[in-house]
Amino acid sequence: MSLTTIDKYEPTCTQSVKAESQDEAFPCGQTTTATARHLTQEELARLSSERALVSDFKQIKLEKEAQKNWDLFYKRNATNFFKDRHWTTREFEELRACREFESQKLVLLEAGCGVGNCIFPLLEEDLNIFVYACDFSPRAVEFVKKNPLYCPERCCAFQCDLTKDRLTDNVPESSVDVVTLIFVLSAVHPDKMKLALENVSEVLKPGGVVLFRDYGLYDHAMLRFKSGSKLGDNFYVRQDGTRSYFFSKEFLAQLFEEAGFQSAVNEYVLRETVNKKEGLCVPRVFLQSKFIKPAHSQSEFGPLSHRSSQERKQED
Ligand SMILES: C[S@@+](CC[C@H](N)C(=O)[O-])C[C@H]1O[C@@H](n2cnc3c(N)ncnc32)[C@H](O)[C@@H]1O
Repeated sequence: MSLTTIDKYEPTCTQSVKAESQDEAFPCGQTTTATARHLTQEELARLSSERALVSDFKQIKLEKEAQKNWDLFYKRNATNFFKDRHWTTREFEELRACREFESQKLVLLEAGCGVGNCIFPLLEEDLNIFVYACDFSPRAVEFVKKNPLYCPERCCAFQCDLTKDRLTDNVPESSVDVVTLIFVLSAVHPDKMKLALENVSEVLKPGGVVLFRDYGLYDHAMLRFKSGSKLGDNFYVRQDGTRSYFFSKEFLAQLFEEAGFQSAVNEYVLRETVNKKEGLCVPRVFLQSKFIKPAHSQSEFGPLSHRSSQERKQED
């Protein structure tokens, strides 16, 4: 189903994940840019008129029920929702070329794996990778394990809340070459994003890479939220209780830096998604980035450290 078809048939829907999830559907050109998308006067007016935030009571409830809401999402949609992510396959191709020798095994962690739309294309294409995959939705993890391409020799799926459960309970410390964070961090409360990144850092090898792709500031999905869905700056709740943050590159770079990473690539991807039948274009904005865990990282200062890079610099 295309974006505009959804708009047409779900006119009263406050926001539907489906409408924004089809980032690979009907693309008509893509550009990368260092600057955020420019809004029209009308879009600016609409965004700035949305001042009222969801009540604290409801916000606390949404945070408590985040896992439940995503699990219900997979109960409703099963594996029929997200499309296979070919962006990751392309990016991973580039990283694979960095192998020191051809038969070198690469270890990947897909954090917030959903039902495996990122990992299964990768496992099919590269026979020499091992993939850890985790999600806090038990249903999503079960779907991954039931996939015919899942085999324990090449893949290990487990349940984990990235903001609470230590990844090192399932993945050896400093053992992973590449972590993928694909449309996952946007679902985490901004106050807890750094915890999730520090958790990821613990299992990443020094010199290892985080591949990030997620919603960018002023994406079409952000502008579609109706009043009553705003949780905070660039943070919204959908009708099904799942939440979405829209990243500026500055916010993301600072977040990763504070968790001890170095920025390698960090740029907006602009594309228009088109319904060919109706000839309507909508502007999609994603943020696509690579961050590196330096050879001497903050993990020396202890797991899930809350110290800022500034504090660490002063200690150096
Ligand atoms: C939009 S889906 C993306 C799934 C997958 N990465 C993909 O690209 O298809 C976001 C996923 O993040 C998971 N998630 C959200 N918050 C999480 C958390 N705190 N810990 C682990 N997983 C989380 C959700 O359950 C959901 O499966």
